[in-house]
Amino acid sequence: MKIRNPREFVRDIEGLPTLPNLYTRFRQKIYDPKSSANDIAEIISADQAIVSNILKIANSAFYGFSRRISSVTHAIVIIGFNGIHHIVLNTTVVKMFSGQTQGGFDLSRIWEHSLGTAAIAKYIAKKKEQKNFEEVFTAGLLHDIGKVIVFKYLPDEFRAVMERVREENIPIKEAEAREVGVDHTEIGKCLLEEWKFPESLVRAAAYHDNPVLAKEKKTEVSIVHLANVITRAFEIGSGGDDLISPCNEDAWNHLGFALEDLDDIAAHVDEALRECAVFKDLMG
Ligand SMILES: [Fe+2]
Ligand SMILES: [Fe+2]
Repeated sequence: MKIRNPREFVRDIEGLPTLPNLYTRFRQKIYDPKSSANDIAEIISADQAIVSNILKIANSAFYGFSRRISSVTHAIVIIGFNGIHHIVLNTTVVKMFSGQTQGGFDLSRIWEHSLGTAAIAKYIAKKKEQKNFEEVFTAGLLHDIGKVIVFKYLPDEFRAVMERVREENIPIKEAEAREVGVDHTEIGKCLLEEWKFPESLVRAAAYHDNPVLAKEKKTEVSIVHLANVITRAFEIGSGGDDLISPCNEDAWNHLGFALEDLDDIAAHVDEALRECAVFKDLMG
């Protein structure tokens, strides 16, 4: 099958799970300026799995708080609405697409690459003193969601893509364009737009390979771009092919980093991964 219109494709995917009701209700409350921490805690408390995930993450090295957070309301007050939104969002999406194998390729390797990108993106965001580091983390985690979609819902095409990558040693994006008609960045962008996810997530999925095109959310997109390159260079999981493209100059300049900053990021990769290890458990 060749996709002509990626938006129609993501609308019509057979078997694609819809966003859980609880998440959409939660999102409405988060965006309502009249909502209190208690209103939001009440919605979340209806799902014990989400409650336990939030508490696990809030008490993990991801935040590194010294005091124990024992209730959802407490977590909301300490972490804030935006941070909690991204925890609920990313744990919900990861749960929707669990691992399996296709054409000798293990989906968990794409998730491992995505988590690596997210963890390094979080480190860079904190280094840049970005307050929305949870959002940048989520943008990293979902940047390759289009690959997950092809893997799960176009298995024959996915196998053909992987074969082409192996035989011709070309970037996965190029193989996708030939076998699927569009590549994972377009599919990811359309899916996250359909789901009405925050703009930074949509743009990171769309432009992580070509950050020059991101007119808005340029900092978030540039961070995910750089984190993606570093994750590939460190061979964390698999981006589908083994090619490492250099960091885009425009993104690098936008972040205003010097070479010693790159050394610093590289020196903290292991620590960044450890800080985000709690998500590995959640991916199961
Ligand atoms: Fe990608
Ligand atoms: Fe990637």
